[in-house]
Amino acid sequence: MTATFWDERFADEEFLYGTEPNVFLVEQAHRLTAGSRVLLPGDGEGRNGVWLAGRGMDVLSVDASAVGLAKAKRLAGDRGLSINTDVADLGAWAWPSNGFDAIVSLFLHLASPERASIHAKMIEALKPGGSLILEAFRPEQLGYSSGGPKDLALLYTAAQLAADFRAVDILLLEEALVDLDEGKLHKGLGATVRLVARKA
Ligand SMILES: C[S@@+](CC[C@H](N)C(=O)[O-])C[C@H]1O[C@@H](n2cnc3c(N)ncnc32)[C@H](O)[C@@H]1O
Repeated sequence: MTATFWDERFADEEFLYGTEPNVFLVEQAHRLTAGSRVLLPGDGEGRNGVWLAGRGMDVLSVDASAVGLAKAKRLAGDRGLSINTDVADLGAWAWPSNGFDAIVSLFLHLASPERASIHAKMIEALKPGGSLILEAFRPEQLGYSSGGPKDLALLYTAAQLAADFRAVDILLLEEALVDLDEGKLHKGLGATVRLVARKA
């Protein structure tokens, strides 16, 4: 169901979230070093994974949409870069333990209890000292028309993220009001929640 929905959306030639990286990722990228192994769950058409590959990182993008990841590979190739991809539902994916220096989760919206379970798998998949960077829409986004799920169950509160990531050091957890300019699907003022965490 997730795969079909996103495959149909991404069938458009256009990159629906653009080809430039997310602004919060760019702000936080100083935490990530060249050569790092980085996982991007729900990387979609790859704008963020490809940007990190361009900064010398070893990128694995995992997404339910084969169509999205094919576009991601093409975007990487157009820039003379390469990323690794895996088409999988993150609920069924064989998450490794201590496998990544960083995980970047951007606008991956999952309903409870899958949200908490996948966030726990992210923690397990980080190496000690590894970083997590996450941005998602919060419930207040229902009052804006700049994109994101229209279903409250898929929107994340800061309290939910604080609980999901209580086992790691939370370096930043904030509610933001951002002026989005990410392709045609994220455009205008948007209500997001942003998290940076580090596994001890
Ligand atoms: C809103 S898009 C964001 C794409 C990308 N992170 C970005 O910011 O441009 C959400 C992505 O999450 C993926 N996704 C949602 N639920 C998923 C799941 N359970 N397993 C794998 N991918 C999933 C979708 O296929 C889609 O590519």
